Amino acid sequence: MKLWLVFLVPLFVGIFCQDKESIWKEYKKLHGKDYNEKLDGGKQENLRKAIFFKKDAKIREHNKGNHSYRLGHNQFSDRTDKELAGLLGTTSPPSPKLHKSMTVLPKRQARLPDTLNYRNSYCLPPVKRQGSCGSCWAFTAITPLEFDRCRKKKSFSVLSEQQLIDCDTNSTNKGCSGGWYVTAWTHLQAVNGSASEFCYPYEGLKGTCRFCAECKSMVGAKVSSFGYVQSMNATAMQLALQEYGPLATAMAVVGSFYSYKEGVYDDKACDNLPVNHGVVTVGYGRFNNTIDYWVVRNTWGRSWGDEGYILIQRGVNKCSIETYPAFVVAL
Ligand SMILES: *[C@@H]1O[C@H](CO)[C@@H](O)[C@H](O)[C@H]1NC(C)=O
Ligand SMILES: *[C@@H]1O[C@H](CO)[C@@H](O)[C@H](O)[C@H]1NC(C)=O
Ligand SMILES: *[C@@H]1O[C@H](CO)[C@@H](O)[C@H](O)[C@H]1NC(C)=O
Ligand SMILES: *[C@@H]1O[C@H](CO)[C@@H](O)[C@H](O)[C@H]1NC(C)=O
Ligand SMILES: *[C@@H]1O[C@H](CO)[C@@H](O)[C@H](O)[C@H]1NC(C)=O
Repeated sequence: MKLWLVFLVPLFVGIFCQDKESIWKEYKKLHGKDYNEKLDGGKQENLRKAIFFKKDAKIREHNKGNHSYRLGHNQFSDRTDKELAGLLGTTSPPSPKLHKSMTVLPKRQARLPDTLNYRNSYCLPPVKRQGSCGSCWAFTAITPLEFDRCRKKKSFSVLSEQQLIDCDTNSTNKGCSGGWYVTAWTHLQAVNGSASEFCYPYEGLKGTCRFCAECKSMVGAKVSSFGYVQSMNATAMQLALQEYGPLATAMAVVGSFYSYKEGVYDDKACDNLPVNHGVVTVGYGRFNNTIDYWVVRNTWGRSWGDEGYILIQRGVNKCSIETYPAFVVAL
């Protein structure tokens, strides 16, 4: 009996180790990652692997618990904290005085449906990818403008985030180092237009401004007006969603957000934190008749979250997402 244990134990250990290793191999394959060990003697490989297994343990631990949301692996599972911070980029919220002066109350007390979701609208194409440029503020400014222009013209045209990255240098907006979506609309109004993506494609790096308001074919949309929705008032946000379409919003991102997979996100860790990321709120609803949520669109591609989207708990200013909602109207 003891004798065959001697043979079996190494076998089990062998299988277990191989299993762990193969999870990492599979992960790298799935996300097209290749750390060439010949180049640096395996330094990258070992660094990435260690981060991945730490994340893997966190994800498993979370998913064992009774939570309203699940975590999962994605392209960010082996990234350092510094690299992850580079995916954000919403800085400089307005002064309280400016914020208040630019707040617009709902025009009419319309009846609110139980759910409203623009996610599958023709005017909201698949989620975009900001890459490793802190330009979420530009995406957050452009998506609601694209939507409203599309709704009015009955045809969709992709607009340019790169124009904002390169040209909006007159304000606190700083290309790939962060900015603020409302200031971006001020800029687009001042230069009389937003270029189409076709004329001014995304590069994810700050370059020289090439926008030309005179070359009319370059202009894809114009900004008519914009403003803030009443802060920390979920009903006002719901009414604004109904009236204007998707809203530009800012939120506080903490660690678990990078690994979000599905369900209603309600991590307590992001409560009462200053905002650091721009996202677009495109709808609302109620999950399983128990928990209210916002439908939120990110700019980290379709492999993050639920095809690029996340549900965030509604009505409690979760992750500060109800603090700075704003709307834009296309001309
Ligand atoms: C899970 O959490 C929900 C909501 O907090 C609670 O109603 C339910 O009883 C919990 N279930 C278990 C098995 O703990
Ligand atoms: C630059 O800033 C000034 C002062 O805030 C403003 O009046 C002007 O419209 C801005 N121009 C652009 C192109 O953003
Ligand atoms: C924007 O349009 C106004 C009015 O047509 C014009 O006076 C102004 O020069 C234009 N600005 C730019 C940057 O083209
Ligand atoms: C929130 O917004 C709704 C809709 O505009 C309004 O009726 C309500 O009074 C607001 N609540 C507060 C506390 O201002
Ligand atoms: C939905 O709610 C019921 C009770 O109301 C609960 O038993 C069930 O676990 C919930 N489902 C999910 C996916 O949370």
